[in-house]
Amino acid sequence: MRERIFSGAQPTGQLHIGNYLGALKNWVELQDDYESIFCIVNLHAITLPQDPASLRKATLDLARIYLAAGVDPAKSTIFIQSDVPQHAELAWTLSCIARMGELERMTQFKDKGKGNTERAGVGLFTYPILMASDILLYQTDLVPVGQDQKQHLELTRDLAERFNRDYGETFKVPEPYIPKAGASIKSLQDPEKKMSKSDENANGSIFLLDDPDTITKKIKRAVTDSGTDITFDETRPAITNLLTIFQLLTGKTGEECVAHFEGKGYGHFKTELAEVTVEFLKPFQARVKEYDEESLKAILSAGAEKARQIAAETLRSVYKQMGIN
Ligand code: AMP
Ligand code: TRP
Repeated sequence: MRERIFSGAQPTGQLHIGNYLGALKNWVELQDDYESIFCIVNLHAITLPQDPASLRKATLDLARIYLAAGVDPAKSTIFIQSDVPQHAELAWTLSCIARMGELERMTQFKDKGKGNTERAGVGLFTYPILMASDILLYQTDLVPVGQDQKQHLELTRDLAERFNRDYGETFKVPEPYIPKAGASIKSLQDPEKKMSKSDENANGSIFLLDDPDTITKKIKRAVTDSGTDITFDETRPAITNLLTIFQLLTGKTGEECVAHFEGKGYGHFKTELAEVTVEFLKPFQARVKEYDEESLKAILSAGAEKARQIAAETLRSVYKQMGIN
């Protein structure tokens, strides 16, 4: 039996090159070697207020993005979270074994709740439990995600181990898969911050659906550090970030990239980075438009059917172990 991977992204905001390089690119690479399940986590999206019509559209659009990135429905299962009711059911169960203290330590809650816990939604607080349920329902071996999800993965492992200890061996304890390069692509406007869907400054992110002019402008305007060499250097996070994007999009090694730009200035580098990005995104954007709603829905409903079978089996054993039916 092949090992299994599970991952997902939220249908909120626009996906950016950080989402692609930190997550989707690795999903596509791993799907040949692992049994792969990719979820569009619409129940996570409602932890912050969403416009219903926009959420419905964003859910299908995200499926288009998965497919355009290269997730292949012949190899991988792709489905919408709310089509599999066991996610919400297991989340309730795990919320009864999770502890307030461990959720209070989640840094993403502190960021998204903007420090105002009195007004923050309860769902935003308990959301890592839903994420743990997503993963544990499928007896997942490996979870390919960006660096920002590492803490949620640790919680998932803790919950699985606690359940197994208290109720008997039930869940596989998953490992995170966080890439060495690209796990945290930074904002083009502030290399101390990660590139983020919710950044108010759109110039900080290259969105996967940006047109060529916009991409070129954003890269030209990207902040740079002092010094002129085009090299990877921890003390120069802006150029390191841009060069990481170049490296991952071209598939070159780090040394090859540095050698390629030796003796060249920022102007030359940015022009080439813009070209590489535009050339990468052009065919990607063409593929996004390929899927009509009907074929998309057929892929998602076949995916949900397969996912439900695995999820139902896991939830049945969870309930049995706990004395529920
Ligand atoms: P989200 O859009 O928050 O649902 O994230 C989808 C995936 O993209 C997750 O695996 C994140 O860890 C990853 N991700 C989000 N932002 C970045 C970033 N700036 N760099 C690398 N990976 C990211
Ligand atoms: N929490 C993740 C994010 O915001 C998305 C997510 C939800 C996820 N469930 C998951 C990722 C399960 C991996 C596995 O990016």
